[in-house]
Amino acid sequence: MANVQPATVRNMARHRYLVYLILWLCVFFPVLYFKISNRPAPDRKPVNVSVVTVAKRIRSVSKIDYKDLAKVCNPPRAIKHGVEGDIGSLNNSLTIQGVIILTRHGDRGPMNHVRNIANIDCGIAPDQEYSDYVTFLQNIFFNMSLQFLGPFHGYPLYPSRNNCSISQLTPVGVSQMLKLGRTLRSVYSSLLSVSTSDDIIIYSTKYRRTFQSALAFAYAILSPDIMPKITFMESDSYSYCFDHCACYNVNSLLMKIKQSSEKRLKSRRAVEKMFKHMHNILHLMSSSVRVDPYLLRDSIMTYICHGAHLPCYQDDCITIDNVHQLFGYLDWDLKRYAKHGLLQKYGLLKSYGFALNVAMNLLKMVSEGKPHLVLYSGHDLTAQYLLAAFGVLNAQTMSPHYASRLVFEVYRNNTVDTTFPGKDFYFRAIFNGKDVTRSVVFCNDHGGAWQDTVYLCPIESAIRFIHDDYFTIFNSSNYKEACGMHP
Ligand SMILES: *[C@@H]1O[C@H](CO)[C@@H](O)[C@H](O)[C@H]1NC(C)=O
Ligand SMILES: *[C@@H]1O[C@H](CO)[C@@H](O)[C@H](O)[C@H]1NC(C)=O
Ligand SMILES: *[C@@H]1O[C@H](CO)[C@@H](O)[C@H](O)[C@H]1NC(C)=O
Ligand SMILES: *[C@@H]1O[C@H](CO)[C@@H](O)[C@H](O)[C@H]1NC(C)=O
Ligand SMILES: *[C@@H]1O[C@H](CO)[C@@H](O)[C@H](O)[C@H]1NC(C)=O
Ligand SMILES: *[C@@H]1O[C@H](CO)[C@@H](O)[C@H](O)[C@H]1NC(C)=O
Repeated sequence: MANVQPATVRNMARHRYLVYLILWLCVFFPVLYFKISNRPAPDRKPVNVSVVTVAKRIRSVSKIDYKDLAKVCNPPRAIKHGVEGDIGSLNNSLTIQGVIILTRHGDRGPMNHVRNIANIDCGIAPDQEYSDYVTFLQNIFFNMSLQFLGPFHGYPLYPSRNNCSISQLTPVGVSQMLKLGRTLRSVYSSLLSVSTSDDIIIYSTKYRRTFQSALAFAYAILSPDIMPKITFMESDSYSYCFDHCACYNVNSLLMKIKQSSEKRLKSRRAVEKMFKHMHNILHLMSSSVRVDPYLLRDSIMTYICHGAHLPCYQDDCITIDNVHQLFGYLDWDLKRYAKHGLLQKYGLLKSYGFALNVAMNLLKMVSEGKPHLVLYSGHDLTAQYLLAAFGVLNAQTMSPHYASRLVFEVYRNNTVDTTFPGKDFYFRAIFNGKDVTRSVVFCNDHGGAWQDTVYLCPIESAIRFIHDDYFTIFNSSNYKEACGMHP
């Protein structure tokens, strides 16, 4: 008896994280599910898929090749797989168990009213894959098997016009998501079969562009016959904050981060003056708005990413040189932006709800062996906040291009140690094909699996961070306190 007791106590401590898991599943999951289902969606329009629109897409208008400048657009041909699925010789002892993917939506129209937008052709010459995809959408539409689209079943399934529309996904954006899905399909093929509806989970924020991106990505990574077996779920917030959206302190953090950006711009008078000039040519209804170089880039990309002529106004034109200077300035600024001391705190507060949801899905993979694939279709800020929270701060992670992806791969030791279940699981974080696991704040200390250059982080570290250490940096123990809100 005397021997059994301490051993039992030790085992209980070891299983602490599995107890958290059970708590999460029982308490958080029903709440989350309730929150993200059955919400009325804004800007819902009847689906109208017209067969002729595809044929009309082929245009003779020649587009300008902006060469190197177009890198910021992440055109479909630039989307290739990186280190996803490749763990070197660790593949002899570890097997992939599941994958959690956060994507940014594909190419879209500008967020602001820009000059001559009606003349910009945001279409593409459709390839076989694009045409197959549209045919697939037409079939599911005419056969009315749209229930699987859940709260999104009333949305248009894809952008049907060549014209760029404010904030809407473009055919280029669809093409990017198809390419991304196809690229990852071969890597994760072992995870993509579906027997029950909880094998694969797809979340999208409530916007049309993220929904349409999720649909194209899902189509390309899964096989079309699987599509009706999965369910789309909606998040109200672009940051996937779920139950943790209201936070008093985030505003003051954001103010301070913004002030630093403004100071940097003010310190470069000539550049600022040029930006003002560009801003006035580019934007309609512009005079009162302050110049924001990031917004300027967003608007300029509408021309650069679709091979359109740069705009002119009253004989004054934006030149290629202007664009080079703008992009150069942003490269310079992003490096400084990523080093801002408050960025991690800001990310932590903005993505707590999201981090909890990701942790819940990680734990389900560990305890139930499913889901195998979770997709969160989101925005640049969704990725920026989560990566900042995890301490992965650099110019690339702070400004994810269209169709960016952040992948968490979950691996399991083939030699299962039944007395120690949590210890058998590892994960890796890969951003746009690059392994960033070692930059994750809670992954660089202890444990983990190493082999040559490949490092895998114990799942336990992630769970401990999110459950125990998340608010340490605030000298707080919970979200409310860290947010400066007293219960
Ligand atoms: C669908 O679009 C066509 C032309 O694009 C239009 O004539 C028709 O009325 C539309 N149907 C619905 C239900 O909106
Ligand atoms: C493991 O990876 C090596 C290359 O790193 C490859 O040659 C081998 O086929 C892989 N083995 C398995 C079981 O996937
Ligand atoms: C944009 O739409 C308008 C009418 O809706 C049309 O006249 C124009 O040709 C379109 N432009 C492009 C580039 O598709
Ligand atoms: C929809 O119906 C058509 C014929 O009516 C059929 O060829 C096609 O396979 C069906 N598509 C789906 C997704 O059920
Ligand atoms: C897998 O588990 C076995 C037995 O517990 C252990 O010896 C081995 O180091 C583990 N492999 C990895 C990569 O963690
Ligand atoms: C953290 O909180 C404790 C008690 O609430 C306090 O004594 C300590 O000074 C605080 N530390 C910092 C750095 O704010």
